[in-house]
Amino acid sequence: MQIAVIGATGRTGVPFVEQARAAGHGVAAVVRSPEKRRLLPDDVRVVEGDARDRPVLDRLVDGADVVVDVSGPAGRGEPDLRQAIVTELLAAMDEAGVARLVLLTGAGVRLPGDDPAPVDRVVGWIMERATPELLADGRAAVALARGSDREVTVVRAPRLVDGGRGGTLRVAEVVGGGHGARLGRDDLARFLLGEAQRAEHVGGAPVVSW
Ligand SMILES: NC(=O)c1ccc[n+]([C@@H]2O[C@H](COP(=O)([O-])OP(=O)(O)OC[C@H]3O[C@@H](n4cnc5c(N)ncnc54)[C@H](OP(=O)(O)O)[C@@H]3O)[C@@H](O)[C@H]2O)c1
Repeated sequence: MQIAVIGATGRTGVPFVEQARAAGHGVAAVVRSPEKRRLLPDDVRVVEGDARDRPVLDRLVDGADVVVDVSGPAGRGEPDLRQAIVTELLAAMDEAGVARLVLLTGAGVRLPGDDPAPVDRVVGWIMERATPELLADGRAAVALARGSDREVTVVRAPRLVDGGRGGTLRVAEVVGGGHGARLGRDDLARFLLGEAQRAEHVGGAPVVSW
């Protein structure tokens, strides 16, 4: 399978690409800065540039079976990063005939059908005040993706910690459906790869946690 990755040089992207290559998949990845090329295996097809640029995305998705977007802003000051990427990405996928997208976002992005427990409401309240732009951008990106005619899986994660391979994954179909408050990025990568391979949650937005 050919997997196109946005955010491959990030803390989730690096273990994702490593696991995808170990499973024998071909990987294409957007890389913004040449020095980050070394974070990825040599046989990854690198597309240099910014993932908000349509020509970059056209090259990225060429020949892909599925796109996995695990990008995120480096800090504040990019309040529409995810929606800008998803807007161009959906157009590029449409043009290239690539049907499937796996989009990572936070569990703070709430959707119809969610039934947040009191603890989820508190976390949501805090995030709404601490990172309103991040949340709004995530919501907008998810709405764009789910409103498209692509086959979209939104994967929602709680607080991420580096590493953490081999934990027991809990997969809840909705916020409040029996998930935890943390997840290791290695295990998140494992779930993302499984979804890229098996498309078990297309149309859904599972919350994945320990
Ligand atoms: N942190 C959490 O606890 C948490 C919880 C739930 C969900 N999430 C979500 O999970 C996602 C990934 O998180 P993470 O911690 O793995 O992110 P990260 O380490 O910050 O990595 C972000 C990746 O996105 C890339 N990127 C950013 N802007 C780009 C652009 N314009 N063009 C191309 N690539 C671009 C970065 O490239 P460079 O390497 O060049 O900077 C990097 O590869 C985020 O969307 C975040 O909202 C995070």
